[in-house]
Amino acid sequence: MEVIIRETRELAVSLTAAIIARALNVRPQLVLGLASGRTMEAVYSLLVEMCEDDGLDFSLARTFNLDEYIGLPPEDSHSYRFYMNKHLFHRVNIDLRNTHLPNGMAEDLDAECVRYENEIRECNGIDLQLLGIGRAGHIGFNEPLSAMRSRTRPKALSPGTVEQNALLFGGADLMPRRAITMGVGTILEAKRCVLLATGEEKAEVVAAAVEGPVTSMISASTLQLHPKCTVIVDEAAASCLRMTDYYRWIFENEPEWQDYA
Ligand code: GLP
Repeated sequence: MEVIIRETRELAVSLTAAIIARALNVRPQLVLGLASGRTMEAVYSLLVEMCEDDGLDFSLARTFNLDEYIGLPPEDSHSYRFYMNKHLFHRVNIDLRNTHLPNGMAEDLDAECVRYENEIRECNGIDLQLLGIGRAGHIGFNEPLSAMRSRTRPKALSPGTVEQNALLFGGADLMPRRAITMGVGTILEAKRCVLLATGEEKAEVVAAAVEGPVTSMISASTLQLHPKCTVIVDEAAASCLRMTDYYRWIFENEPEWQDYA
């Protein structure tokens, strides 16, 4: 795992977008794993700018999102499909048929999860998986105690996650209590992972995930098992990390992230 600390949120976001753009330039048919949440909005906004101003080309890219709420149709403004269309897909030259999210409206949710895993497999797996981190240390909706070998499945949301996301729904009562999420095992199979976390409210959980023990209580800690994982944080999100001097030295002298594209 490589931890990169950037001075500001803007610099952390722009490095994340640059890594994605570089991977896409190297491999136009990139299979990109995508995340939702407030942190990612700034990344998508930069990718849109790069597409408009620098000709970043999404025309051959294929995308798979981490998760989707159960019971929300794509046209619901709280669904992750709506979020992705709004922040990225409708604003870049991607073919919508190449964009995939789990169908949270499927009658048979287990069959939908198998279908999603098969779709990823048919694309030969995810080349680059973008990740945020939730307050409970979760990636996707892999809430505490998610098995490290778990696959795409329906998952009940923890009270902390409901509290964190309830604001967006105008109250916890209006929020779905379950989601379909890629499993920890699914995520760890991506050829490369990039996790972005910004802001002081992520500082403790980032430190636990990066420097703490690997535990299913904090699903992001399993990224320590991934051979090509880059964690990008701003100073605020880095404020509980202990080995910051070392991370800074690596970034200045022997950066790994450039070798991965
Ligand atoms: C949700 C999503 C995660 C995301 C997390 C953090 O739980 N399922 O994929 O990383 O929120 O979101 P935010 O960036 O809004 O803090």
